[in-house]
This record gives sequence, C-alpha cells and structure tokens, in this order.
Amino acid sequence: MILSNRMKLIDPAPLDDMFAFGVDPTVISLACGNPDAALFPAEALKTAAAEAIGADPVAALQYGKTNGYPPLRELIRRRLLEKQHVVCGEGELLVTTGSQQGLEMLAKTLVNEGDMVLTEEPAFIGSLNAFRSAGATLAGVPMEKDGMDLSALDRLLTAHPETKFVYTISTSNNPTGISTSAEKRAAFYKIIKKHRVLVAEDDPYCELRFDGRILPPIKSMDTEGLVVYFGSFSKILAPGLRVGYVCADEAIIRQLATAKQTADLQTPALPQMMIVNYAKENDLDAHIALLRRCYAEKCGVMLDAIRRYFPACITATEPDGGLFLWCDLNNGADTNELVREALNRHVAFVPGYAFMTDLTKKQSALRLNFSALPAVQIEEGIRRLGTLLRS
Ligand SMILES: Cc1ncc(COP(=O)(O)O)c(C=O)c1O
Repeated sequence: MILSNRMKLIDPAPLDDMFAFGVDPTVISLACGNPDAALFPAEALKTAAAEAIGADPVAALQYGKTNGYPPLRELIRRRLLEKQHVVCGEGELLVTTGSQQGLEMLAKTLVNEGDMVLTEEPAFIGSLNAFRSAGATLAGVPMEKDGMDLSALDRLLTAHPETKFVYTISTSNNPTGISTSAEKRAAFYKIIKKHRVLVAEDDPYCELRFDGRILPPIKSMDTEGLVVYFGSFSKILAPGLRVGYVCADEAIIRQLATAKQTADLQTPALPQMMIVNYAKENDLDAHIALLRRCYAEKCGVMLDAIRRYFPACITATEPDGGLFLWCDLNNGADTNELVREALNRHVAFVPGYAFMTDLTKKQSALRLNFSALPAVQIEEGIRRLGTLLRS
C-alpha cells in the first residue's frame, strides 16, 4: 500500500494508544478525553430514542436533510443566542457528525496541499490531524496564560498573508485547560479583521467552565463573517451521539454542506431527534450544571494529588473548566519516552509532542484528563505517575 502524501503526515500512535489504554482495565488511563460515563443520562436518552422511533419512524430511520433535523437546528440556534450571544441565521448552521467532522470538512473545503494554517499551540490532536489530512502546513502560535500570544499571531499573519485560517479553542483549551480572556478575544478579533483571515473557533467546552459563566465566543463579535464556530453535544450530553454543529457565514455553510455530502450525506437523524426529545422532557442546563460541579471537584482532586506526589519542579496549569490539565516537567525530558514506563506502572497519559505542529520535537509536557475516572482512581493514577517522575 502506498499512502497519499496527506496521510503520511499523520501519526496514529497517540490516538490509537489513547483508545487502547482507555479500555484496558489494568491501566488507570488519564490519557483519554472521555466525559464521565457515570453521568450519561442513559435512561432519559433511552426514552428519547424510543419516543423518536415510536412517534416518527420515517423521520428517524429514513435519509434526511444534509443540514440537519429542523427541530434540532432550532434548538441549537436558540441556545447559541441565549447562552453564547451568537446570532446564527437559518442559513448559517450545519449539523455535523461530531464537531470533528466539521473541522475536517473546513480543511477539506479550504486547504490545498501546502497551504498555511495557523493554530494555537498546543492544540487538540484531532483538529491538527484533520488539517494535516488536507495537506495543510501547520504553524503554531504559542499560548500564554490567557490565550494566544497575539504579537506572534500578528507577525505570523503578516509573514503569511495567504494563511487559510487560524485555529483556536477559545474556552478551556484541549490540552491545557487555558481559556482566552475576554480582553484577548476582543484583541484577537481586531487582528483577524486587520488581516481579513478566517478563524476556526472550536468551542466544545464553553458551557463547562466551572463557575458557569460562559465567555462570549469570538464569534459573538463577528460582524464580518470571518469566524467559523464549532460546537458539540459530545461533552455536555454524550460523545457516542456524534452530534456537533458549525455556525458560519451562509456561503461557507453551503460549501461545508457540499463537503458533508461527499462524506456521509447527513448526520443520522436518530441521535438528533434524541437530543430534541431529551431537551423537551429534561433540564439540559441542570445536567450541564451537574457536569460542571463534578468536573470542578475532580480537577481539584487531581491538582491536590499533583501537589502531594509530583516533584516540586513540575508545573501544572489550573484550568477554569473543560476536561484536561497540562503538566510540564521543566527538565528537558521527552515525555514520549516515559509513556512505556508509565504503562509498566499501569498508568497512562498523553505525551506533549502529540499536541504540537512539529511532531519531531521532544516535549517535556504531558496532558492529563480529570473527567473520566472516579476521584480515588485519579489520586492513585497521579500517585503512580509521581513515583515514576521522582525516580
Ligand atoms: C477541542 C476539541 N474539538 C473537537 C473535539 C471533537 O469532538 P466531537 O466529539 O464533537 O467530534 C474534541 C474532542 O475531544 C475536542 O477536545
């Protein structure tokens, strides 16, 4: 088999490992990005599925519209306005099979082999790989405590006026847990307007800030149609539903819909109907509030354990929401080389290199997930990692 140039750019190891460790019962996996399965509203979703097929079997089981199930589209547009202050017109929305599909379609739609995409760094592996799979040349913009280094962004955009888009995870970045501050969002948008470049704003964690205060997305300031906004039900309901969405300028949505038709024609109607039925019969906001409380508590348990078990020279971010935190060993070590040793001690993490634009550079950082496991396992996982890091 001779791989395409595009697929040669992708290292499958981090994601393969992540899913493998996640199902190995002997390993405490702090590697995966899973929400807490104990909090899935499984019974309510079962009822929602039965209702969907019972009340309208044709809508649930037949081919449907590429742009999504109309009542779900209404629900998304209403929530975008109420929660995020994003005005999303009827033609400005596309339901996708997870936000991952939307990100992949944006790259497929805009990127020719070699085209420049700028991304905050570190950033979500799935997005970076989606961009690579379209042949993008990636350049990283370093992250500061409150979001991207905007001088670096401005410099890079000046040097690369042909940049296709800038990628940002504005709230509780995966992998660092850092959110872009309100001030930086405004300053970021000014730079974007100056360079007239598109932005891919990926915001699956916006409702999972621990204090419950949603930071209005950059999309909410977008008077020029430059921001392509990605949302998802994966982290606020269940990732197995595979329902996400894109809100963007109508012309962009039309192109993305064409790209979607070449991928899967439509997102299955059943999970879309389940979400609508679930939201009708249950309090989605109360469920999200429960997730926030639970993740805030677990994040606290992890940070506490890090302080107790890790060597003092190791720094950790203090996320304001989301599912992850980011530790740096600060000693020039390559965390990729520690993965196997950690597995020998039955604990897993994701090495930092996986979130970078240049996969060949050693990284002394690592990502830890605090949402998936119960508190006792988080503490035990950190204790095991601490023993390794001290040795
Ligand atoms: C920042 C970010 N974007 C997108 C995704 C993909 O989510 P979805 O399940 O909606 O495809 C994830 C999943 O972890 C993520 O962390």
